[in-house]
Amino acid sequence: MLQGKKIVLGITGSIAAYKSIYLVRLLVKAGAEVKVVITPSAKDFISPLIISTLSRNPVLIDLFEGESWANHVMLGRWADLMIVAPLSCNTLAKMASGHCDNLLLAVYLSATCPVVVAPAMDEDMWHHPATKNNLAKLESFGNKIIPVEKGDLASGLIGDGRMAEPESILSFLADNFFLTSPIAKSLQGKKAIVTAGPTYEHLDPVRFIGNHSSGKMGVAIAKELERRGAEVTLIIGPTQLPLTVNGIMLVQVTSAEEMYTACQKVFADTDIAIMAAAVADYAPADKSNEKIKKKDDKLIVELVKTKDILKSLGEAKRSEQVLIGFALETNNEKSYAKDKLLRKNADMIVLNSLNDSGAGFGHDTNKITIFDKGGKEFNFDTKSKAAVAKDIVDTMINLYYA
Ligand code: CTP
Repeated sequence: MLQGKKIVLGITGSIAAYKSIYLVRLLVKAGAEVKVVITPSAKDFISPLIISTLSRNPVLIDLFEGESWANHVMLGRWADLMIVAPLSCNTLAKMASGHCDNLLLAVYLSATCPVVVAPAMDEDMWHHPATKNNLAKLESFGNKIIPVEKGDLASGLIGDGRMAEPESILSFLADNFFLTSPIAKSLQGKKAIVTAGPTYEHLDPVRFIGNHSSGKMGVAIAKELERRGAEVTLIIGPTQLPLTVNGIMLVQVTSAEEMYTACQKVFADTDIAIMAAAVADYAPADKSNEKIKKKDDKLIVELVKTKDILKSLGEAKRSEQVLIGFALETNNEKSYAKDKLLRKNADMIVLNSLNDSGAGFGHDTNKITIFDKGGKEFNFDTKSKAAVAKDIVDTMINLYYA
C-alpha cells in the first residue's frame, strides 16, 4: 500500500504515544520506510528501543548527540510525508508559532513534504479556543489534520480528544497522500460549489434578520470534496469560523440575494452543487439607509420572499450535474424532505431533524438521513460533521460517479 514511501513519524509526549508503536508497525508492514523523531518528553511515554526495533532505524531525539549534529534539513527533505502522531497541545502551539527548541520542531520547520498531524488531548483542551486557533494556523500552512475521535480519555472522562486509531491514520494517508485507496481522488477534474452558513438580511445599517447556522457542516463538506480531488468553491454567509480552508476558493457573501448571484455566476460551469446554507426565506421589503428609531408601540416590517437558490439551480440543472440540498425539519421530517427533493429538482436531499439530539445548528455533530431521487433512503448515526461530510460525499460518489 505504501511501498517505498519515505515517512518521518514525529511522536510527542502524550499518553496516546503507545498507539504510535502500532502505527510504526502498520506503516512498515504497508511497505513504508519509517524514520522516527520523538520529543524529549515522549521518552517518558514510550521506549525508543521498541520504536527503533520496529522502524528498523535509530530513533532521533536530540538536535545534537555528542559531537554530531542531527541533520534536520536532510530529514525534512528525505521524507515524502511527515506525520506527527500523537500531536500534543504543547507541540501544536510550538508548531503554530514556529518555535524550534527540539529536533522534531526543527524537522517540521524544514520539511518540504506534506505534513499531517493527529492530535491527542483531553476534551477541555481540545475545545479551548487556543487549540482551535493553533489548528487553524496549521491548516493555513497547508498541513492536514486527522480529526480526533470520541471515547475514553486518559483523565477518565469520556469525550472528544482521542487520537485517531492507527488503522484510521493509515487509511487517511492512503486516501489523502498516496492515492492508493479506491475512494481517493475520485472527484479529480470535477468542479463543485458548496453554500454554507446563514444569510443576514439587513433592516437598517445596524440590524438584520439572521439565524443560528454556524457554517460548520458546509465547510466540512467543502473540505471533503477537496480531499477527493474536486476543485471547490465555498460560498459562505457571515460566520465566526476561522476561514483558512486551504485549496478551496472562498466567496464570502452576506445576504440571500448575494448568495444567489454568486451561485448563478458559477453553476453552469459546475459538476456538483451542495446547498448546505441556511438561507433566509424572507428579507425586509425595504432596507432603511438610516437606523430605524424607536417610535410607536408596534413596528410592522414587511418581508418579501428571497430567491430560492436550490430551486433556481434545480430548474437550470443539466442531466450530468449533481445537485444536493438540505432539509432542516422539526415535524413530518421525511415527507417534507422528500417533497423538497421533488419540488427543487434535486438529486439528493440531506435531512437533519431538530428532534435528533446532537444534530443541527452550532453542534460539532450531526445526524442525517439521505433521500435520493430514485427513492432510496440512507440512514446514518450521530457523527462528527467531518464524518457526516464523508458519508454525504461517499453516498453521492456511489450513486453518481461509481
Ligand atoms: N435554500 C436555498 N435558497 C433559499 C432557501 C433555501 O437555496 N432561499 C436551500 C437550502 O440551502 C437547503 C434547502 O433549500 O438546501 C432547503 O431549505 P429549507 O429552508 O429547509 O427549505 P424551504 O424551501 O425554505 O422550505 P421551508 O422553509 O418551508 O421548510
